[in-house]
Amino acid sequence: MLVLGIETSCDETALALVEDGRRVLVSLVHSQIEKHKSWGGVIPELASRLHLELINTLWQDLQKEAKSKFNLTVNDIDLVAVTSEPGLLGSLLVGINFAHTLSWIHTKPCLEVNHLYGHIAASFLETDLEPPFLALLASGGHSQIILLRSYNNYQILAETVDDAAGEAFDKVARLMSLEYPGGPAIDKLASTINHCRTSFPEIQDPQIINGNYYFPIPKVKNDNFSFSGIKTAVLRIKNKLGEEKFFQDRTQIARAFQNAVANIFITKLKKFSEEYSTKNIVLVGGVASNSALRLAARESFPEDEYQLYIPKPEYCTDNAAMIAITAHYKYLAGEFADLDISPSAKATW
Ligand code: KG4
Ligand code: ZN
Repeated sequence: MLVLGIETSCDETALALVEDGRRVLVSLVHSQIEKHKSWGGVIPELASRLHLELINTLWQDLQKEAKSKFNLTVNDIDLVAVTSEPGLLGSLLVGINFAHTLSWIHTKPCLEVNHLYGHIAASFLETDLEPPFLALLASGGHSQIILLRSYNNYQILAETVDDAAGEAFDKVARLMSLEYPGGPAIDKLASTINHCRTSFPEIQDPQIINGNYYFPIPKVKNDNFSFSGIKTAVLRIKNKLGEEKFFQDRTQIARAFQNAVANIFITKLKKFSEEYSTKNIVLVGGVASNSALRLAARESFPEDEYQLYIPKPEYCTDNAAMIAITAHYKYLAGEFADLDISPSAKATW
């Protein structure tokens, strides 16, 4: 089965063709970041206008690549899949209208996809992964640990009570005068020094031990996460050290910050893995492309005991292949959509 995925929920305009829910034939992602950067974040109105400007060209490019590499045309597409939530309303509408139009003109079924579920489905790419598994979804707007019992049955075990991890990365990066998006900027800066994982001392407050910075794991009810405390701790350190010393130690602090985020996630994943007796662990969402988190996961979930699945960085951040994969399994489960898909800013799962 050949599925066309369409993703326009935030600042990436993306189209992809996926075969049988596991193999990406074409994946095109146009990031609008350069256009939003100077504002320090995504401007919703600008994002929807850019999606509108870009999506037709991207569609032409996808058709050209599909034809030249695989001799496929629009007639070979079995299903059109589009992100309908959560996201920026105007941006979602561009993708949905585009999907509806293609579906009408070429008489193809059309399915709506939850973007968060899409991130999880990215872990099926070129793997033999089957549910049940534990998934850490860490993106710009969400941080959750989800138990996927079957392809369409999930349970949220933990989530953030304040900032999402990606949001915390973006805010800390701003404190460090790094450019938007903050996650990759912090990752790049922290990678300039030794990436060996340091030990995590049991501490209550942020501390400097032997010249290294450490942040404690916040205590949160019901196994949930909190990232706003660490973000504020970075601000307090900045105020305490003063600008000069803070920027002098910026790399060390960036490294300590991303190590702390990794530690929070890995500790919870370990706990749930024991509680639910599952050795299949999945890391997805933009923050899953973080090198410290990927390294910590590989160290903490060794191959002889666990099956760890982390998509390639380009499939951790927003893309349309993950939308096509999700639709593939929804379709197999017998789900259909009328042509009345409407966008939702919030996730309804
Ligand atoms: O999943 P995603 O591409 O979009 C959303 O659905 O939100 O995630 C974007 C988030 C941003 O906050 C970005 O700073 C963060 O993921 N991110 C990273 C890295 N790459 C992207 N965070 C930490 N390290 C990275 N390498
Ligand atoms: Zn996303």
